[in-house]
Amino acid sequence: MTEPELALEVEDLVKVYAGSESGQRAVDGVSFTVERGRFFTLLGPSGCGKSTTLRCIAGLEATDEGTITVGGRVVSSHQPKVLVQPHERDIAMVFQSYAIWPHMTVFDNVAFPLRAGRKRRRVARKDVRPRVMEALERVQLAEYAQRLATKLSGGQQQRLALARALVGNPTLLLLDEPLSNLDASLREAMRTELRTLQRDTGVTTLYVTHDQTEALSMSNVVAVMQDGRIVQAGSPREIYRRPMSSFVATFVGRTNLFDATVTGPAASPSALTLDTEVGRIEAVCPEGVGVGDSVSVSVRPEDIRLHAERPLRPNVFDASIIRRMYLGDAVEYNVRVGERQIDTRQHGDVFLRRRQPAWVEFPVEHCVVLSDEFGATADTHADRGTEDEDHDPPDDRAGLLASVFEGAPAAAPVEEGTA
Ligand SMILES: Nc1ncnc2c1ncn2[C@@H]1O[C@H](COP(=O)(O)OP(=O)(O)O)[C@@H](O)[C@H]1O
Ligand SMILES: [Mg+2]
Repeated sequence: MTEPELALEVEDLVKVYAGSESGQRAVDGVSFTVERGRFFTLLGPSGCGKSTTLRCIAGLEATDEGTITVGGRVVSSHQPKVLVQPHERDIAMVFQSYAIWPHMTVFDNVAFPLRAGRKRRRVARKDVRPRVMEALERVQLAEYAQRLATKLSGGQQQRLALARALVGNPTLLLLDEPLSNLDASLREAMRTELRTLQRDTGVTTLYVTHDQTEALSMSNVVAVMQDGRIVQAGSPREIYRRPMSSFVATFVGRTNLFDATVTGPAASPSALTLDTEVGRIEAVCPEGVGVGDSVSVSVRPEDIRLHAERPLRPNVFDASIIRRMYLGDAVEYNVRVGERQIDTRQHGDVFLRRRQPAWVEFPVEHCVVLSDEFGATADTHADRGTEDEDHDPPDDRAGLLASVFEGAPAAAPVEEGTA
């Protein structure tokens, strides 16, 4: 049997919470696919529908419209009616609070899904120990097997939750902001560790975060969500370098945005001229944008060049330096052009004094023209983008986990930071 190439297909997913104001859609027609073995991230601000999407996929929320297919099998659809129970979906999930069981040892936490699985998934007794130990070794917790789960540090509890998720070899691993409860340095270390683990095991991963650095650094594909929809999906580089709306440009990374009107052809053949508050600039416009259109232009701080002498190139303006901040590997210059303050990031060697004459250059190739109309109609079906995450709604996580793993122990899960 050939394995399906797609681990996950989500088509036109809609979710309206009962009692929500005027039937507002928490998820409003979300579609995407995740190829086997890929790391796919939903990225977006709090409340945009990331967790809801994840929970619909896990089967922890009923959907209102749409089809969800896991490993080639439809697990949720409305026509015809299909609803596969969470524990039958071959999915594992790690929550923001790791939801590990405090009254169990590390070993027993990981063994739980193997012992408690329905007959279909239950593992022969003699196989439990080697599989648990293998999972613990993968996350470097083997030596803690007999310790109580509560005696682990935050980072270790995180790894334990991962081991428990991976021990059953799920088709799909769902991670809902798993690093957001760790302190900054640990979070960075866990980012690398998690990505290495994902590569080594090859488990298809759907990751949810509101942290753009996490999304860009870990993902094969990032899908950016806004108000219940995916507004752009692509590789981290595409999302960062070629945002299709001002929302994506400002949510993913820092940028300078200028309101602009397209005025006519430019010297370089593929570019147009645009009038902006700082003056006339040249930029390449997306297809469909023409003379007279109102657009925005995004220029990232690191793409702006600062000069002590005026270069003979387009998009150069007189600037005065307002602030300089030396960071070692880079220097951030905040400059004024006309009435406008602009953030720039220069190489650590660039040294300009506050009162000396200066010029900023917005290199033509780095001026990204955004038409929000254009962005909103972008094709988001491609499985080449990533997405977002945010807060967990208050819920009974022990209960949810129980439904994922079938029959949780009675005690509540450990909340983050209890170790
Ligand atoms: N259990 C719930 N009942 C009612 N509304 C909810 C519930 N969970 C989430 N919501 C609402 O649905 C929207 C999306 O929430 P959520 O998926 O948690 O967003 P995110 O994970 O991106 O922060 C928000 O407006 C949120 O308030
Ligand atoms: Mg959330």
